[in-house]
Amino acid sequence: MIDPFGRDVKYLRVSVTDRCDFRCTYCMAEEMTFLPRSEILSLEELDRVCSAFVTKGVKKPRITGGEPLVRRNIMWLFERLSRHMDSGALEELTLTTNASRLSQYAKALYDCGVRRVNVSLDTLDPLKFTAITRWGKLEKVLEGIEAARNAGLSVKINAVALKGLNEDEFDRMIAWCGEEGLDMTLIEVMPMGDVSDERIAQYLPLSLVRSRMEKNWKLEDIDYQSGGPARYVRIGETGRKLGFITPLTHNFCESCNRVRLTCTGTLYMCLGQEDAADLRTPLRQSEDDTPLNEAIDAAIARKPKGHDFIIDRRNNEPAMSRHMSHTGG
Ligand code: GTP
Ligand code: 5AD
Ligand code: SF4
Repeated sequence: MIDPFGRDVKYLRVSVTDRCDFRCTYCMAEEMTFLPRSEILSLEELDRVCSAFVTKGVKKPRITGGEPLVRRNIMWLFERLSRHMDSGALEELTLTTNASRLSQYAKALYDCGVRRVNVSLDTLDPLKFTAITRWGKLEKVLEGIEAARNAGLSVKINAVALKGLNEDEFDRMIAWCGEEGLDMTLIEVMPMGDVSDERIAQYLPLSLVRSRMEKNWKLEDIDYQSGGPARYVRIGETGRKLGFITPLTHNFCESCNRVRLTCTGTLYMCLGQEDAADLRTPLRQSEDDTPLNEAIDAAIARKPKGHDFIIDRRNNEPAMSRHMSHTGG
């Protein structure tokens, strides 16, 4: 699938639920209205759409949410998708999770061919953790990470950089990742959805974080690419990789290789644009995949060049009205 700007779309992010057992302050409002069940694709339908994308050349599906592991019977989908790992059609099958239920699922995920998971974890301080996630318990997440490693999964920690909340903790997190053998990525907070806290109050540019970090750590630029948007360095002292995802300070849209499917079957061709394609109607209209394939081709043909996120004082409205939990990041 080649888009109008010559980019090869090989990475599909699939949000399997808009629900989550946490309420991270930068992601959700405390009171959220979730979608009615009838609007959500069944697991069979998710398998059908994902498989259509695999046939069209997707090499890397990433299952996201909300929190993907709160979806009932979610392992059924991983088991189905594992056939594309066995056939060699996929390079990787993976997920992004808050790890609250990872201890329960780690082994089964490994058995389905998953080898790498990204875990969202913004702080190692139990009180701050509960403040950021509103409902989460750090202990469960740490247990989940340990279970994942024991099951043979490599784990990357995703931390959203939040001004005044976790900015004093990155040194500690880097050291901890070094001890535990984990890679880490820092993410700039994006203006997605109304979350009641002011974005400008949360926003911390990673250019600033990096220059502060360079006082304490040896950061070596490396060529490593995970297929996602992060630019990586190696930390000299620990040998681990550290990624920077900088949609605001450094736009990476020119190399964008991904599209995202929501749990209602809507395909967003860019995280930061409103345009979307309805895949649920063609999916439900016929058992034959022809209408679905046509809708996918039409969508890829209008993938936009990039996003226009900005966060500044005059512009404190969310750039996107939808929440990140809707598109899965
Ligand atoms: P790997 O590189 O495979 O480890 O994964 P990834 O970084 O693509 O996935 P992950 O779920 O860890 O994503 C981290 C975050 O990066 C997402 O939640 C988003 O916040 C951000 N991100 C991913 N893709 C895009 C994109 O196309 N545009 C923007 N602006 N942000 C993105
Ligand atoms: N800006 C940046 N990252 C976000 N995430 C959720 N909401 C936002 C936002 N507004 C991150 C989560 C998780 C990933 C899927 O998206 O922390 O790591
Ligand atoms: Fe849940 Fe992830 Fe959103 Fe936090 S960032 S509320 S863990 S979906």
